[in-house]
Amino acid sequence: MSAHEAPARETTSPSAPATSSTAGTPCAPFAPSAFLVGGDWSPEQWDRDTWREDVELMRRAKVNTVSLGIFSWASLEPAEGVYDTGWLDDVIELITAAGIGFFLATPTASPPPWFTLAHPDAMPVREDGVRLTHGSRDTYAVSAPAYRDASRRIARMLAERYGSHPGLRGWHLHNEYGTLDHGPHAARSFRTWLQRRYGSLETLNQEWSTSFWSQRYGDWEEITPPRTTQYLHNPAQLIDFRRYSSDEMRSAMVEQREEIRAAGSSAPMTTNFMLPTWNHLEQWSWADELDVVSLDHYLDTTGPDAEAHVAYGSDLSRSWSGGPWVLMEQNAAGISLGDRTIPKSPQRMIRHSLGYIARGSQSSLFFQWRASLGGSEQWHSGLVPHAGASTRRFEAVCELGSILERIAPAVRLPADGPLVEAEVGILWHADGWWALETPHLPSDTIRYSDEVRATHRSFWRAGIPVDFVRPGADASRYRLLVVPCLYPLTGEQVTWLEQYVEAGGELVVTYLSGISDASLRIEPGGYPGRLRELLGVRVQEMLPLEAGVQVALDDGGVVEEWTELLETTDAEVLAVYAQGELRGLPAITSSARGSGHAVYLSARLRQDSRDAFFASVAERLEIVPTLAGAAQQGLEVVRRRGDGADHVFLLHHGSESVTVRGDGPELISGQDGASGVRIEPGDVGVLALAPGAPLELLPHPQS
Ligand code: GLA
Repeated sequence: MSAHEAPARETTSPSAPATSSTAGTPCAPFAPSAFLVGGDWSPEQWDRDTWREDVELMRRAKVNTVSLGIFSWASLEPAEGVYDTGWLDDVIELITAAGIGFFLATPTASPPPWFTLAHPDAMPVREDGVRLTHGSRDTYAVSAPAYRDASRRIARMLAERYGSHPGLRGWHLHNEYGTLDHGPHAARSFRTWLQRRYGSLETLNQEWSTSFWSQRYGDWEEITPPRTTQYLHNPAQLIDFRRYSSDEMRSAMVEQREEIRAAGSSAPMTTNFMLPTWNHLEQWSWADELDVVSLDHYLDTTGPDAEAHVAYGSDLSRSWSGGPWVLMEQNAAGISLGDRTIPKSPQRMIRHSLGYIARGSQSSLFFQWRASLGGSEQWHSGLVPHAGASTRRFEAVCELGSILERIAPAVRLPADGPLVEAEVGILWHADGWWALETPHLPSDTIRYSDEVRATHRSFWRAGIPVDFVRPGADASRYRLLVVPCLYPLTGEQVTWLEQYVEAGGELVVTYLSGISDASLRIEPGGYPGRLRELLGVRVQEMLPLEAGVQVALDDGGVVEEWTELLETTDAEVLAVYAQGELRGLPAITSSARGSGHAVYLSARLRQDSRDAFFASVAERLEIVPTLAGAAQQGLEVVRRRGDGADHVFLLHHGSESVTVRGDGPELISGQDGASGVRIEPGDVGVLALAPGAPLELLPHPQS
């Protein structure tokens, strides 16, 4: 897929197979004719009476999609080469008769015990050398030939049997790839990967700086995955192992995809990524291999930040996917955060569902349909809770089903252009995450995803739409491009940023970006070595702050965690430190280059200061929120472009009712938008407007 879509329209009935070309080549965007609602269903956990009751309840809730087979390997292949698909045939027949479609998973995330016993070498080895065994899930060594063969076989069997089924909406390849292996199979394939990357040992030794600590490798066989060692690992080895692991898992996924295609199935291919903490994949290159990106999203925050997190996960997924995407899982109710379960109210579940859809999801799918009574996830919530269907939870599920039916016109994709128009781009790359996870950096408290999220949050709070951008992609549509903490940058990426600014773009780069090359070797002469010229600055020293210490800037901003001793070469100083050791020295600078500017943020702005900083940059560039004044009232407004119409999603997270006027119907309540749609706190609305039609926030008579 391209980084940004120019979707050719394709409409398929939710119960008909969507067609796709083989991933890796341009394919039609994922365009079902209705939003998908439903979730993971594991009928193998239940008796047949429960299946029938489930399907009845699904009909009541207008469920149109379930994900099957995700952890069904043992039920589908009870012994090596012995298949039992009768139960799945029956399940598929039952749902098909009820008009319910399905994603079919390859069950390879959870090999059965017989597999372990037959192929003990295919179990993963932890960093500390412990070989794991079955008893949980995700326990496999991805590069073990026995695992790969068994995975291909079961994928092929499923594709031959179900690959042309009219109810098949797509292939759900594996589940949340992410098991890292440090065993002998990984060592072998890691070496092959390194040989391809570096060509010669001499180059590897140089790139990995192995002359330090006598780490020089004289033979490829001497190289291992970064297993537990006495003290610090080599950072280049660590980041290459992350890259290798992502590539290795991707090749396992591609093998499954090819097996399925070879069996003649043309259904769309996806695999579910996960946020917020799952960082095992380099998502852009994975998206290249998929027809549509799907996401499992579990919130790690409560309060208003959870709503910002929904937007963050959605904007990332839409950007990775290059257009429409699939929310494959969210939690129906509570989620266990640390030591307790944090509840999610039914109203919030609905609001979040629309939040994902507003930002390009074609679905609101959940883990899981019916809460398990036993097994490891018996306390993970379900759409049908332990208390059964006579519950507020299930009522809310039914309400969601009918809301999604009413907003169905919004599922259609625009004939051209993006689903959500954004003038702000944030650079994203897994390298940044992995680099900041290497130990012994000047500060371990700066985490990549926190930094990216903090930046995204500032724009979310301002009501300004954002895309994420792949390094090297066409960024010309963005008037502002932000680079938070992308520590390694290649020479080509630096040139790409220079060209962006030269052509008139406004670039904002933060601390800990452009520090090193791809092998994490620091560029000499002052930080951020790779960007010094573009930014017109030179950092002599990084000066992390102690926990809790805050330093004021002269522009009213406050910084924490991170400061730098910065000098300008030809940049203009926008703000200086007002206190402390750095008093009077530059903190924020801007350099004019070509028709654009390159701004450097050398200190970590506290969230409120970050919000104010980006709001002022946006104002200067005349980048406006989707609806002026709405965010300040807690109203999130997202304009999702569609087929000859804009659908304006109104998601009210605030505490006072608001009224929005737009010339078109509000699809959920049926109110006429021309006379103003009133949205109560916690509620949602979707206005259908002519493309580009104006919106207005009306002053509210307090009642
Ligand atoms: C993940 C998995 C699901 C389930 C949920 C909830 O996202 O894909 O199988 O484990 O988490 O824990």
